[in-house]
Amino acid sequence: ARLVVLVSGSGTNLQALLDACADPSYGAQVVAVGADRDGIEGLARAERAGVPTFTARVKDFPSRDAWDRALADEVAAFAPDLVVLAGFMKLVGPAFLDAYGGRTLNTHPALSPSFPGMQGPADALAYGVKVTGATLFVVDAGVDTGAIVAQTTVPVEDDDTVESLHERIKVAERAMLVDSVGRIAREGLRVDGRRVRFGA
Ligand code: GRF
Repeated sequence: ARLVVLVSGSGTNLQALLDACADPSYGAQVVAVGADRDGIEGLARAERAGVPTFTARVKDFPSRDAWDRALADEVAAFAPDLVVLAGFMKLVGPAFLDAYGGRTLNTHPALSPSFPGMQGPADALAYGVKVTGATLFVVDAGVDTGAIVAQTTVPVEDDDTVESLHERIKVAERAMLVDSVGRIAREGLRVDGRRVRFGA
């Protein structure tokens, strides 16, 4: 399966996918990495792996819709089977979802439907939950609302900070992402409303 991965930051989830894809039996290859900003470690990781990159910055386009269409076009040039948003800090819009709805995945560092949005680890810590985790989902028009592909849990420790909790989540999140994307590449994914399962 051909993967395009979109990033906005450090790209540790991307790196986990790049490392997994080095084994041919994994069943997937990262064919391009896109970003919504320049100068991030995620793009440097792609370059070190010899993977083509592109950047689409919202401020370079006359409207959010124009950016969304341009992003969809950049992605389409690499003909992916699956698009993975790996720490991509923008919501994709209607043009993108027209082209890639049902085969765009995102990870969220909380157990959906709890704590959607940008502050999942901080919100979980503030609420006082004892277990949190990460959710892999099929992107829809909402914020972290898409049908759930996989979830993984981690404990919240008494002395956690937002950073220590997010780090623990990210370790589990990367393992979940690599495991699930490999299964999708090898087995397929069936999406039936909100019910998602691996398989043809
Ligand atoms: C991940 O926890 C992702 O879920 C969140 O931001 C983090 C990105 O990490 N939205 P990285 O860029 O893959 O290291």
